[in-house]
Amino acid sequence: MASSTSREWSGSAGPSNERIMTYVRGFDEEIGGGIPPGHITLIHGPTGTMKSSLAYYILYNNVLEGRKGLYVTLEQDAESLADQMESLGMEIVAASKLIPIFDLSKGREKLQELDEKMRSLKKRVPNSPVAENGFLGIIQAKVEELKRKRGFDLLVIDSLEALELVANFPDRRKNLFDFFEWLRSLNVTAFVVSESTPDLLGFLRFQETFDEAFLADAIFELKMEIVNNVDVQRRIRCVKMRSVNHKTDYFTLIHENKWFEITKAIC
Ligand SMILES: Nc1ncnc2c1ncn2[C@@H]1O[C@H](COP(=O)(O)OP(=O)(O)OP(=O)(O)O)[C@@H](O)[C@H]1O
Ligand SMILES: [Mg+2]
Repeated sequence: MASSTSREWSGSAGPSNERIMTYVRGFDEEIGGGIPPGHITLIHGPTGTMKSSLAYYILYNNVLEGRKGLYVTLEQDAESLADQMESLGMEIVAASKLIPIFDLSKGREKLQELDEKMRSLKKRVPNSPVAENGFLGIIQAKVEELKRKRGFDLLVIDSLEALELVANFPDRRKNLFDFFEWLRSLNVTAFVVSESTPDLLGFLRFQETFDEAFLADAIFELKMEIVNNVDVQRRIRCVKMRSVNHKTDYFTLIHENKWFEITKAIC
């Protein structure tokens, strides 16, 4: 198992209070050393706030410490995601074996194809996962198969809204509850990217009452802050993290020389 203390952070989390670090410089110290293993964390914010980049970055840096990841993308295709991560200084070729990208960006078309493949592999199984549980069933079956075959400690689902589009959640509250229960049953540390819509002024209107917020153990909120007539900065804050004494302040989030880092937001 990877050491929680070996690379950039030298805080106090030891084996008994192991943490999954974000490797966002300065941020882990503000959230009690990192995320407790097994937590489901929402990475929530409007478009362009670097949700996918941050999610991949967390996996990437944990993989360099010996963990394994799986990135499920339902929005951006794997190639464009990899290009973006390369441009942020991550060495994707080296990481790709340890963080396979399960590309569902072609939605239902890809899922149908996968369903047929799985059916022909399991000839004796009369009902495909799709027939039994719809498109969500095939995603879950494939993720479980990858867990059995390759194993992974960290999982990203990018994004919840795209998943809902392909999986169709007729009873959103119940379907979300079941989905989070399934995530927990995998016994991994999960990150669920979720979109929010900025209001007319361009500020994020964070709705603390949405169902996934109650279901998640932790929430990182990302937003764009208009600081004056010309400057806009990215911000991050930890809205909640169960069983951890963490700061809830907004910090300015920047990316420089392959690292994300925070600085104290002043305004
Ligand atoms: N090499 C880079 N260095 C710094 N910032 C970058 C770089 N490449 C992209 N960006 C920034 O990252 C943003 C996109 O990040 P990302 O795709 O992670 O955001 P997102 O919140 O997931 O967006 P979406 O809602 O479209 O999924 C770009 O709009 C750009 O501002
Ligand atoms: Mg994204």
